[in-house]
Amino acid sequence: MSGMRVLLTGAAGFIGSHVYRALTGAGHEVVPIDLMVPAAHGPDATAPPGVARIDVRDGAALDGVLRGIDVVCHQAAVVGAGVSAQDAPAYASHNDVGTAVLCAAMDRAGCRRLVLASSMVVYGEGRYFGQRCGRVEVASRRPEDLAAGIFEYRGPDGESLTWDTVDEDAPLRPRSLYAASKLAQENYAAAWAAATGSTVAALRYHNVFGPDMPRDTPYSGVAAIFRSALEVGQPPRVFEDGGQMRDFVHVADIAAANLAAVERPLPGFQALNISSGRPISILEVAATLAVARGGPEPVVTGGYRAGDVRHIVADPGRAARALGFVATVDPLDGLARFAFEPLRESAGVCAPSV
Ligand code: UD1
Repeated sequence: MSGMRVLLTGAAGFIGSHVYRALTGAGHEVVPIDLMVPAAHGPDATAPPGVARIDVRDGAALDGVLRGIDVVCHQAAVVGAGVSAQDAPAYASHNDVGTAVLCAAMDRAGCRRLVLASSMVVYGEGRYFGQRCGRVEVASRRPEDLAAGIFEYRGPDGESLTWDTVDEDAPLRPRSLYAASKLAQENYAAAWAAATGSTVAALRYHNVFGPDMPRDTPYSGVAAIFRSALEVGQPPRVFEDGGQMRDFVHVADIAAANLAAVERPLPGFQALNISSGRPISILEVAATLAVARGGPEPVVTGGYRAGDVRHIVADPGRAARALGFVATVDPLDGLARFAFEPLRESAGVCAPSV
């Protein structure tokens, strides 16, 4: 399908710029906008050529770019987990008010299709089961267990629990400001779809990596943190015991999933895991990057971050069935290449502001 008119928000960001290339490469007409927030682009950034500097919270500006748009692909967001309670207004304002203003403007323009960048963080913890006790609902790990180096969850009789994959019907238990804002975006979008007869594909990205990922900041994902350490001759510092399982999905696959969602309307509100389907441990991530760069070897510190989830692993089945999306990049191959791919400079990057 070609020739759709797509409004792409966050078009200058890490993921948005890959989505821009995928959409234009497939023959779609893309209207790219970006606010160029200092937290992502540095304090004095100007918009790249062709990208209009527009805030999604500015309904009048959106009215000006939404005419004739078939689909909005909404990537603009303040990202990271939120490092301080002081970050809350920025997440709520950019992500949640932004989505509400965008949906209202889409309603005025008669635009009925939204592809929304969501995240696996809406689930909170992954799924767990024990050989003896079956599925167990977990909340968060006890500080005394973490301090004692007990990183796996335990069942009621003390057995160590094993992870299971998370499908889109899993309970939603956001644990960070970012997660709270992503779930609120989904909720506003779902309510808008129900009220207006519109459609929403909420793409729940798992751990995204790839070329032009932002360098290490307190808001960066671990692949960029490990990669940045190796670049200056430092070992990747692996928290817990390195056995944390994640699904690392290449940004080219994220872009392909967005293209599929733009091209294939789904009825109503649909949430879809976007993942590689090939889970790996954090130690494997560190070791793969370290081997590719020729060392130094990862150091497993036994330290931990309060609030981190232990395992979160996607079930990729629904996106395959609904969108025909299957990731093409094996995470270990992609990470080995990522060891030498360019990173986005984050000089001057600061906490998000409202
Ligand atoms: C991350 C993002 C989250 C995003 C999600 C999906 C951050 C802070 N978190 O969550 O916003 O929605 O991916 O893309 O951006 N670790 C180390 N050493 C380090 C840093 C981290 O071992 O120096 C470990 C952590 O303890 C954790 C794992 O790496 O177990 C992953 O951490 P992170 O990259 O922050 O990812 P998520 O928590 O999965």
